[in-house]
Amino acid sequence: MTIIPSAEVIFGGVSQAGYPGAFPPKVEEIIRSLIGNSHSIIHFFSGSSRIGDVRIDLGHQNATHRGNVFDFLKQKDPILRHQWEWLIADPDYCEEQERRLAREKGFMVGDRFADWRDERLIEDFAKGHVQNIIWLDRRMPHFKGFEFKKIWLVWQGGWRNIRVLTWQSRAGQTRLV
Ligand SMILES: C[S@@+](CC[C@H](N)C(=O)[O-])C[C@H]1O[C@@H](n2cnc3c(N)ncnc32)[C@H](O)[C@@H]1O
Repeated sequence: MTIIPSAEVIFGGVSQAGYPGAFPPKVEEIIRSLIGNSHSIIHFFSGSSRIGDVRIDLGHQNATHRGNVFDFLKQKDPILRHQWEWLIADPDYCEEQERRLAREKGFMVGDRFADWRDERLIEDFAKGHVQNIIWLDRRMPHFKGFEFKKIWLVWQGGWRNIRVLTWQSRAGQTRLV
């Protein structure tokens, strides 16, 4: 049985002015309070965010490593070899866009897409190299070998879709908020 020990609803609109999909302020605040002063953070699909020592994004100038996350994983890039205290990820919603907009692999063009057929690569990486996962998505993935610590439903109000911010830790870890 999957147990979710704590859940909260928070307000989080989408930034109209800044980078599309940038973390809403409350989400950013929660992430920063979880990671504290850790310097062992890898951030996938990092966009404009400056959270994390290693930030991988297809093209944003704030990334420390530019490229396709799945290529880094497939090529077993040396930066992935460490043991990371935190993995943060805020991927594009390509599956949904694929269906809604009837565009193959989402709304991005060319190689600018997150190919979710490869997402098990992230699961394998987490299993071997990560203690905690913070994941923001319209889906709520549960990583094998991890247990939920807390989830936040990020609501924009009205009839809009919600996103889910999840914090999962390797099974057996006890720190709670
Ligand atoms: C929702 S945005 C993340 C925004 C970020 N949380 C912020 O605060 O700015 C998703 C990001 O994923 C990136 N992206 C999409 N597919 C990717 C891939 N396969 N590899 C690396 N980055 C990818 C996009 O460039 C985009 O910046």
